[in-house]
Amino acid sequence: MDILFQPIALGSMTVSNRFVRSATHDYIGGSDGTLSEAEFALYRELAQNGTGLIITAHGYVSHPLGRGSINQNGIYDDRFIDGYRRLAETVQSFGSKLVVQISHAGRQTPPDWDASITPVAPSAVADPTVGIEPRALTDAEIWQLIDDFVAAMVRVKKAGCDGVQLHIAHGYLLSQFLSPYTNKRTDNWGGSLENRTRIIKEIICRGRKLVGCEFPVLVKLNSTDGFAEPGYLSLEDVIQTAKMLESWGVDAIELSGGIREAKGVMSRPGIKDVQQEAYFAPAAKAVKAAVSIPVILVGGLRSRQVMEQVITEKAADMVALSRPFVKQPDLVRRFREGAAKVECVSCNACFNPKGLRCYLEAKTNV
Ligand SMILES: Cc1cc2nc3c(=O)[nH]c(=O)nc-3n(C[C@H](O)[C@H](O)[C@H](O)COP(=O)(O)O)c2cc1C
Repeated sequence: MDILFQPIALGSMTVSNRFVRSATHDYIGGSDGTLSEAEFALYRELAQNGTGLIITAHGYVSHPLGRGSINQNGIYDDRFIDGYRRLAETVQSFGSKLVVQISHAGRQTPPDWDASITPVAPSAVADPTVGIEPRALTDAEIWQLIDDFVAAMVRVKKAGCDGVQLHIAHGYLLSQFLSPYTNKRTDNWGGSLENRTRIIKEIICRGRKLVGCEFPVLVKLNSTDGFAEPGYLSLEDVIQTAKMLESWGVDAIELSGGIREAKGVMSRPGIKDVQQEAYFAPAAKAVKAAVSIPVILVGGLRSRQVMEQVITEKAADMVALSRPFVKQPDLVRRFREGAAKVECVSCNACFNPKGLRCYLEAKTNV
């Protein structure tokens, strides 16, 4: 059987194929953090067309400082549980699995909608691309954030979702702690890798006690900040972090990369040929060699040939896509029917505060 259509176990969860819709903020959620009818329709379409694992847009765990974008879904209060329950039931009714990504934007909280907000971060490292200097978190605030993440994990489980994914990528708060570029702390939360990963360990270990050993806990992990110079996140630290994550009971690691300052690293624009695809595959391969839990690769996967290669050459066990599902939510059905390539041209027009461009255009044309 085609490797892409073989089932796989992520801890106690069995996914029917190797396709993952990577977390994708869609800008069409309710302005109060609730899931919108347009989002229910989007997730229904992904599930109806056989997407094995659907990871939600990142839901933020603390209000208002954790918010990373307008119309972002929230998971910071019990009132969001019912919406995720309905979403899980919808997705599961088609045999797909639903994992909720939880995040805190930290220094990447844009103060656009409220100028009185000063973003928080491990350290007061200004972002030169937006000129905002965050405020360093106090020790008490870090413990509060750990509680916020753990409470969000519990809500995801209560909602009947299939698992939770911690966002430790793309320059959001947990990856800010991990990277020596954004974490300059000299207390227990900074310095050594052990200290820079402490917040992640506390969330996972405390969360596990409440959600139980069986509930799938995944992470999306940065493999790079997007800069090769010393002082940024190194691959060696990433590999050590992956080993620690496994020892703390994480069920699968999705490998990505890039922070806000590193333009075009997370979602590389203009992917035309196979050489430009799977741009985090070398890092994923190094991580996969160091752990025995499943590894998921995201970033520029566009052709069936490359997706199969990634799995057979042991760079990853699953392939995750974001932008191609914006253009074609029925992508997995198309691959099952023999498609060789996605239609997405990686133009990045989906980063659109009015909503995912190609998806909405397709809806208005029908
Ligand atoms: C519009 C848009 C929203 C995104 N939102 C998220 C998100 O909520 N969480 C996340 O981890 N990554 C997010 N990403 C990054 C993608 O999940 C993915 O890592 C990246 O786009 C590379 O994969 P691709 O080449 O298949 O698009 C987003 C990407 C796009 C284009």
